[in-house]
Amino acid sequence: MTTRTCCGTALLLSMLAALPGRAATPAPAEDADARIARWDKGPATIDVTNYPAVARESYNVFAARCARCHPASRAINADYVLPEQWSSCVGRMADKWFSGINKAASRNIREFLVYDSSVRKKPQVDAALAKLSAEARKTAEAAIAEIRLRFEKP
Ligand code: HEC
Repeated sequence: MTTRTCCGTALLLSMLAALPGRAATPAPAEDADARIARWDKGPATIDVTNYPAVARESYNVFAARCARCHPASRAINADYVLPEQWSSCVGRMADKWFSGINKAASRNIREFLVYDSSVRKKPQVDAALAKLSAEARKTAEAAIAEIRLRFEKP
């Protein structure tokens, strides 16, 4: 009796596994809320000790302005790495009701995030650049190089 139940269960399971259904389909893509929750859970500060002075100052603006409505970790661990991505993200946040982020702060924060990505997320930046068209890549590389040069000049 026990054996029969066992084999019956095993047979049923193997039949289920063979069915084209949930088990065979790849996991659904992470939804937007889960993605944001994952970013929120990461580190909430960046060690900027070795960053140039301009970057350290802009980091303070970022830390003050971008942690008002959600933890700063949301931006620190975001998948955004390219200048365009940071422009649209910071622009969208600054446009929010009572964001308290003016034009000057927007510019500082965007430049800090581009600089920080080029240092802390270099492999992701390279991977993202590789996916762009030759022309878009040139524009993005020039924008990153311009900020790095300006931040790092003695
Ligand atoms: C006025 C409140 C507010 C401020 C200030 C704010 N955010 Fe947000 N942020 C939100 C809200 C609300 C969401 C979630 C929904 C959305 O994207 O609009 C969000 C989502 C995000 C996300 C998740 C992905 C995305 O693009 O939606 C990132 C990254 C982010 N913010 C970065 C920043 C950065 C960087 C700053 C500082 C420049 C900032 N936030 C300042 C309200 C704010």
